[in-house]
Amino acid sequence: MGAGNRKVMSSLAMTVMLFFLLTIPVSELFGGEQETAGDRLADFSTCLTYLEETGNLVRVKTEVNPEYELAGIAKKYEGRQCVLFEKVTGSDYPVFIGLLWNRDIVGKIFGVPKEQVPFTVASAIGAWKKDKNVMASPVLDIGPANEVVEEDVDLYKLPVPIHALKDGGRYLDSSVVLVKNPETDEVNISIHRCMIVAKDRMTFLIDPGRHLGAYLEKMEQKNMPLEITINNGVGLAPWIVSAIPRQGDGKYKIASHLIGKPLRFLKAQTVDVPALADAQFVIEAEILPNVREDEGPFAEVTGYYAEKAKRWVMKVKKITHRKAPVFHTLLSGVEVWNAVGFTAEAKIFGTVKKSVPQLKAVYLMPGGCGFYGAVVQVEKDAADIGRKAILETFNAFKPLQRVIAVDTDVNLYDPVDVNWAITTRSNPDTDLIILQNQWGHILNPMVKLNPDGKGGTVTKIGIDATAPFPRTDKFERVKFKEVDLGNYAIQ
Ligand SMILES: Cc1cc2nc3c(=O)[nH]c(=O)nc-3n(C[C@H](O)[C@H](O)[C@H](O)COP(=O)(O)O)c2cc1C
Repeated sequence: MGAGNRKVMSSLAMTVMLFFLLTIPVSELFGGEQETAGDRLADFSTCLTYLEETGNLVRVKTEVNPEYELAGIAKKYEGRQCVLFEKVTGSDYPVFIGLLWNRDIVGKIFGVPKEQVPFTVASAIGAWKKDKNVMASPVLDIGPANEVVEEDVDLYKLPVPIHALKDGGRYLDSSVVLVKNPETDEVNISIHRCMIVAKDRMTFLIDPGRHLGAYLEKMEQKNMPLEITINNGVGLAPWIVSAIPRQGDGKYKIASHLIGKPLRFLKAQTVDVPALADAQFVIEAEILPNVREDEGPFAEVTGYYAEKAKRWVMKVKKITHRKAPVFHTLLSGVEVWNAVGFTAEAKIFGTVKKSVPQLKAVYLMPGGCGFYGAVVQVEKDAADIGRKAILETFNAFKPLQRVIAVDTDVNLYDPVDVNWAITTRSNPDTDLIILQNQWGHILNPMVKLNPDGKGGTVTKIGIDATAPFPRTDKFERVKFKEVDLGNYAIQ
């Protein structure tokens, strides 16, 4: 059996296991490794040490300019090892990048095969929804994130990069915002890109439908500021959880389920909103009511620039950090695609599986910008299974614009194998599904905006690349003898 097919077999076995995993508590998933996996998911420093010890981190020792040069070097490593820039011009602090750009590495941090990560996250969401009162966070007065309290606020002391050539400024693009629901005081966490415009001022983006936007609207009606903390260099668990949309307040507890104990909060110095106690940096700020200033352009997850516009403004009141902090940034591309996959694939799988039990796996493929392209793998036992899976997948995740169905002998994680299936198993006359005038995600430049600018439409395409049913000998995949290279003297 060839290496490709071995991978397919293991992905099949994995799918069966994944179903089983959904039914057991997350705390039991890590088995003997629980403590280590939980620790590195909770704490960024522990995670970096682990990455270095396991050969998944390279260090750039030459001093680099945070303006364009740092991101230029990082781009060469995208999808490979993580990178630590030890010396960044104009700052005392190093910069780390690449936490999510390699799914194998993310799987190692979680202590599970990469295919299981979405199901581990889904299982933690399930545990939280079962009882939203457990895993409340303790609020510490003193913690790692306030070991140093800066006297003066100066954002320019932080090694914040300008990433892409036409970005409007230095961007914090990988920081977790904590805010309190003004009506309930419950904490919400999410990620928002923030552009530095002065030493104590940032403009930033709130997309439609965000909790942060809803709370701000309430405060703006009273012309009052909304307090927040911005947490940089947080554990992978709170980071991933803050990227899961529309869960509602208290979703930080999903991170607690992932790490196996309550996430630690920290009392802020100047605002009545907690920070993450184990963050590397905490920026305390208030969002100014009814003020809008220029933000952007910014290199977006689609590979295009989001345009400059008048957007929200915050004034920074305090900066605290660890004694030897590391700043966390990302290249908005593969890292964000993976973040979407880790939080959405299990949900899509669970939804589609109900009506198409032949479904074996779902992958939000690279190049689909996280949101727009999926491959679904099915055990085809009737002629219309591929087609059914495609339509149900579109229903399960609205932003999708392209869904490809493949058989179980195709490795859905390998774009070459998927392309091979399209080439040899689909007939454009009968296997294409075209859905016109569908809801479209407005970040994609091919989506036609509605006249009111509030939404858009797009044409979607499904490709059934499963072999015709019943399968004839013509569609038998070539296989080779399985060998162990360790048994051979090879130079
Ligand atoms: C790297 C990254 C950057 C993001 N930047 C923004 C942003 O600038 N503005 C925004 O509204 N959402 C942004 N998001 C999405 C939200 O953070 C995410 O959907 C969040 O879970 C929303 O939480 P909520 O549903 O509780 O409001 C980003 C997500 C990621 C992963």
